[in-house]
Amino acid sequence: MCGIVGYVGTNHCAQLLLSGLRRLEYRGYDSAGIAIADEEGEVRVCRAEGKLQQLEQAYREDPFDGTIGLGHTRWATHGRPSELNAHPHRAGRVIVAHNGIIENYLELKKELTARGCKFSSETDTEVVAHLIDEMWSDSDQSLHDATRLALDKIEGSYALAVISTENPDELVVARYASPMVVAHGDNCAYAASDVPAVLDHTRKFVFLHDGDTAVLSQEGIAVYGDDGQPVEREVKRIHWDPVSAEKQGYKHFMLKEIHEQPARITDTLRGRVSVDRGEVNLAELNLDADKVADLDKIVFLACGTSYFAAQIAKYMIEEVARISVETDLASEFRYRNPLVSDRTLAIAISQSGETADTLAAIREAGELGATTLSIVNVIESTIARETDGVLYTHAGPEIGVASTKAFTTQLAAVGMLAIKLGRLNGTLDVEAARELISALRQVPAELETMLQDTSQYEEIARQYSRANSFLYLGRGNQYPIAMEGALKLKEISYIHAEGYAAGEMKHGPIALIDRNLPVVVLSPQNSVYEKTASNLEEVKARGGRIIAIGTEGDDRLDAFSDVVISLPEVPEFVQPLVSVLAVQLLAYHIADFKGTDVDQPRNLAKSVTVE
Ligand code: G6P
Repeated sequence: MCGIVGYVGTNHCAQLLLSGLRRLEYRGYDSAGIAIADEEGEVRVCRAEGKLQQLEQAYREDPFDGTIGLGHTRWATHGRPSELNAHPHRAGRVIVAHNGIIENYLELKKELTARGCKFSSETDTEVVAHLIDEMWSDSDQSLHDATRLALDKIEGSYALAVISTENPDELVVARYASPMVVAHGDNCAYAASDVPAVLDHTRKFVFLHDGDTAVLSQEGIAVYGDDGQPVEREVKRIHWDPVSAEKQGYKHFMLKEIHEQPARITDTLRGRVSVDRGEVNLAELNLDADKVADLDKIVFLACGTSYFAAQIAKYMIEEVARISVETDLASEFRYRNPLVSDRTLAIAISQSGETADTLAAIREAGELGATTLSIVNVIESTIARETDGVLYTHAGPEIGVASTKAFTTQLAAVGMLAIKLGRLNGTLDVEAARELISALRQVPAELETMLQDTSQYEEIARQYSRANSFLYLGRGNQYPIAMEGALKLKEISYIHAEGYAAGEMKHGPIALIDRNLPVVVLSPQNSVYEKTASNLEEVKARGGRIIAIGTEGDDRLDAFSDVVISLPEVPEFVQPLVSVLAVQLLAYHIADFKGTDVDQPRNLAKSVTVE
């Protein structure tokens, strides 16, 4: 991941590629590169770690140009941010830029190495370049043929852009589960992972479908469907201004990121779970049955939204792996005298991997003898580097300050971890593991369905956005979601909100209940449903206004609530992953209705690297 731009035509393209990358900068990246072929097919590559300025400087020191080329900004997923790992990657005649994740890259790399291929990076992408070069064995074949043959061997997600030294007037692209557009120009064609990259040059876009490949040249664009046969794809005129193009037409980054969640959860599970075998593969954590059997407890350390992911981890792990789990706010843990031993497993959860309190807390746990792990989104961040093992969430860069997709991918990660620990601990048999894995796999499709029509949230926002305060209630694994829902609302709408354990309502918050306090009750059908439903009736009896979030078709909720938001029916284990979407959308639409700065709420920072 992260941004791709490509050009083939009659003009020199170095500046176009560099400015295209600038247009993609908002997505976040840690290295960048360009590759350009001249008329003779000589290809030059220039790459640099860090910001585009570094790439531009490296390019200025030794400039080159031509009429076909690729540019890429990389957000590291496999291999640390470095010049060698930056794209484009070259193997023999083939030069590739790639977004996505090649699941079976280790297996392919082993086979290619055995056949004599030499690798110069730690990336999954380089495997693709070697495979295409290897497949291109016959002079009757085209770069496109070789690319399709290579894609047959690849499992995973990709947006690919490929050029070659053999055929310097053709650019080949491919798409599967990672966005890729192509666009028409005058005697030229463009490719990009996102519209803004080339919006200064053209408005005529073709959005490729999964499984499509395309051949771009001065003459135009030929698109092929997943069966390899030519297909017609509609040319769409894009009228977005550059800013809304960055948000892919969504009003805010936060909304775009909410909608990205199904794909990012799929990326996080990708290559790590097998329903057939009932297995979760998290080799990166170096956990084995002996180690797990010896644990006295697991301690999760985190801040903010990540802390609520830790709290859900407690429900998941204690339920399926029967290991005692504590959760601690990192800022509290680091200043008390915590009980940690060499039989403790300490796990930091952090989107950024740089939060000062979380870093200090996990260091402290390590110094006290614990084995340390982390669940982190930003590869090679400090927390990732300093822990004994790291499980990366593949949320991609999150731009909205209020965390959404980082949270749901953290939940997918802790779900996998719980299953893994249960299998290692012998508390979960293969059949039960299969069920939990398929529950996790079911989530993206359920979220897609929920995202198809969100008009109900706009209506709720109209009715409730004048409230001064909200109460969120939940039990069991919905309790952390109640707190996350309240946090989201206060972060972006500036309305006071409190998340409470439903069973605790009678010990205090019940005194607040009246017509002016909307109460959001998270009450899907699960093992604590009856209990939560009685709390809801208690609120109703005191004249409270109830927004119930429950399972589709629940008549009891209908009878007692002012508004019901329906959730799809999913196993209790994964209910937080679907109910959180409802509280995210609720907060978003209320904030949007109020007109606050949703993406950059006042006083908040995306990454808090000071105490
Ligand atoms: C900040 C962000 C929150 C985030 C928290 C922890 O407060 O605004 O969205 O949850 O930091 O960040 P981390 O990167 O450690 O998950």
